[in-house]
Amino acid sequence: STGVVRGTDGAVRVAGVDVRDLAATHGTPAYVLDEADLRARARAYRSAFETACAQVGTGVDVYYAGKALLTRAVARWVHAEGLRVDTASGGELAVALAAGVPGAHLGLHGNNKSEDELRTALDTGVGRIIVDSLVEVDRLADLVRAHRGDGGAPAPVMVRVTTGVHAGGHEFISTAHEDQKFGLSLAAVPGGDSPALTALLRVVARPELRLLGIHSHIGSQILDPSGFAVAAQRVLALRAELHARTGVLVDEVDLGGGYGIAYLPGEVPLDPDRIAKEVAQAVADACRDLGQPLPRLSIEPGRAIVGPAGLTLYTVGTVKPVRLEDGRVRTYVSVDGGMSDNIRPALYGAHYHAEVVSRTSDAAPVLARVVGKHCESGDVVVHEVRLPGDVRAGDLLAVAATGAYGRSMSSNYNLLTRPPVVAVTAGESRVLVRRETVDDLLALDVAAD
Ligand code: LLP
Repeated sequence: STGVVRGTDGAVRVAGVDVRDLAATHGTPAYVLDEADLRARARAYRSAFETACAQVGTGVDVYYAGKALLTRAVARWVHAEGLRVDTASGGELAVALAAGVPGAHLGLHGNNKSEDELRTALDTGVGRIIVDSLVEVDRLADLVRAHRGDGGAPAPVMVRVTTGVHAGGHEFISTAHEDQKFGLSLAAVPGGDSPALTALLRVVARPELRLLGIHSHIGSQILDPSGFAVAAQRVLALRAELHARTGVLVDEVDLGGGYGIAYLPGEVPLDPDRIAKEVAQAVADACRDLGQPLPRLSIEPGRAIVGPAGLTLYTVGTVKPVRLEDGRVRTYVSVDGGMSDNIRPALYGAHYHAEVVSRTSDAAPVLARVVGKHCESGDVVVHEVRLPGDVRAGDLLAVAATGAYGRSMSSNYNLLTRPPVVAVTAGESRVLVRRETVDDLLALDVAAD
């Protein structure tokens, strides 16, 4: 059960707890996470991919992409469900390690990792460092040499490549112009090797590095699964090319994250079983065509694990009808948070669904826009939603599917304090991350003059 589910008695509960009680206990705004739901999604992805990969004759590791939301408890839950954790910064790495996730079960990404981040990864035995540029190959190898001397174990490395497949939203393109910062292109340079192959050759040539595999991430909120198969084919062709050139056959191929979820009622998320089957089959077919053995697979879902397991509770304040040019009236419903706790509508034009959850109403619905309390007209939480015509101050509003990239992309704009992250498990709620206070803000502001 996720999002906004109303019982037959009209009450909205998360894991058995009435959201009115959650608001009374923890205040608003608050991020609420359904632990059992999050864990079930982690299990669903793991078992879907394990089953599909076993059917074609290989294994798989599922990494939870911590950028979607990472707290120690969340890291522990996914670890307990047999997932590994993908991190993208020293901060994410620190939280995953503090949660007790073994270094060997962690990955470190980033197009501009600092020396500190790389050092921490080496010190804590991070299972794979995903290198993102040619200079990073040498930077990391030199660091290993300086750090461990010649006798140390080589650092486990994957090379992130850009396959030309760009996916997300509702479509994908297979010949994208790669004018972006991530990865190494598969497109051949006139008269030479592709940057991706060049980087792989460089990793192979450096004894301080151990080449684990090739990594590809094609986008996020993907609802059309065909892009994954195209990316897999291109990555496997690169693997075959490296094999032909050097005799080195990489063990692992990571196809990244990006599995799309439902944000609005009626939207259809990617089905883990279906996508797992398609991906495993595409990999098996490509390997057969190339005459190559199957690699081990890995994937990195973030949003699909945590997104639908979270909702945000707000309290309604000002309600203001605004007459539009075409004569319609839009009811602006202001809540006690906004773009500081969910930047996605302002940043991406992302759409969400909201409902009044503190009472039922027979009032005719009105065209409403849910807005925050920030000094910015783009501070929108829900662009368009029908709310009861008697929506009023004090009503509790829930916005569904905010578990991913809400808290993790939050800010203190206008010096708002960040909401708490509250977990609900089997009828009990507990705070995972406490609400920030004004004292927290003042504590960072260290010079009064
Ligand atoms: N792996 C890599 C290398 C990634 O770059 C990402 C996301 C993921 C995994 C996880 O993707 P997911 O399964 O969560 O789609 N802030 C944006 C999403 C940015 C995603 C960036 N990379 C949003 O709120 O939509």
